[in-house]
Amino acid sequence: MKDLKVGILGATGAVGRQMLTVLEERQFPVEELRLFAGSRSKGSRISCFGKEWLVEETDPERFRGLDLLLGAAENDIAMKYLPLAAEMGVQVVDNSSAYRLDPEVPLVIPEINPEDVGRTKGIIANPNCATIIALTAVGALHRYARIRRMIVSTYQAVSGAGKDGIDELLNEVSALSQGQKPEPKVFQYQIAYNLIPQIGGFNELLYSSEEMKMQNEGRKMLHDEKLLVNCTCVRVPIIRSHSESITLEFEREISPEKARELLAEAPGVKLWDEPNEGKYPMPLLTSDQDLVYVGRIRRDLSAPKELYDRSLSLFCCADQVRKGAATNAVQIAELLFR
Ligand code: A2P
Repeated sequence: MKDLKVGILGATGAVGRQMLTVLEERQFPVEELRLFAGSRSKGSRISCFGKEWLVEETDPERFRGLDLLLGAAENDIAMKYLPLAAEMGVQVVDNSSAYRLDPEVPLVIPEINPEDVGRTKGIIANPNCATIIALTAVGALHRYARIRRMIVSTYQAVSGAGKDGIDELLNEVSALSQGQKPEPKVFQYQIAYNLIPQIGGFNELLYSSEEMKMQNEGRKMLHDEKLLVNCTCVRVPIIRSHSESITLEFEREISPEKARELLAEAPGVKLWDEPNEGKYPMPLLTSDQDLVYVGRIRRDLSAPKELYDRSLSLFCCADQVRKGAATNAVQIAELLFR
């Protein structure tokens, strides 16, 4: 692979900074970096690849000549700038949700649907973090027995709301320890010693936008419009790594032993399933690394008799800033350029 000119839109945010670390760790062939942010970060410097790089206020003219632009900014900023980059012939990989369901834009998890990168017309979308973690965890099971229905409950870390989310949890813990009353700004309620069953706004069926992503993005990546997903997304007072409890109904029979055998070999997955030895996924265990840990694999005791042999429940955890965002985006870039 030739050395590439790489830009990052939103380079100073939680995901943008993690993208830089992942590019460096994976020895992505970077000839030049252009780091774009808002006006408040203009002129700051970030060290990466043994050099200091200047952060520029975003100016689309500076996209010209780039091979790759990684998007790590909010939807409105993505929509303002990324189509301009694609028009200039720059390959874009965007982490926002702006283009994920656009039929012209591939939505890709490299372990699940790598072939879809070939359909790019300039922009490829990186899926929602909880969706990346769930589908990476169940991808090998789906290939073997085909999932018909998923029931998912998520336990999502505060870093999913960016650096401000982490600061809010830490500040609240500190305030409470001094007998002060926290004043939530990022989350709807106090998140310290609490949990909040709302991430995003609710639709007419009273599912939140985060919950609908699991079904809508899952269907797109598995190329299966009939996939049924019931998801409940919950924000929990964890700094990093999302956890998910998943119950699956398959088209064909699959045993917990077969699931373990498949997951032991599955790309991007670490089987961590010896519950009697205290070995199961937990967010502290899975933070700051790239694998999706899967454990607690067992039958669904509530499945109707005729579906019992086609049912499984499991628990998975992964670092959502890495595999759920930055690492997945860099893996897509590797598929495109390697
Ligand atoms: P800045 O540091 O200047 O605010 P996060 O989601 O972690 O808060 O990160 C958001 C990223 O998007 C940051 O890098 C932020 O830069 C960047 N950003 C914010 N506003 C703009 C803008 N108007 N144009 C380009 N990037 C922006």
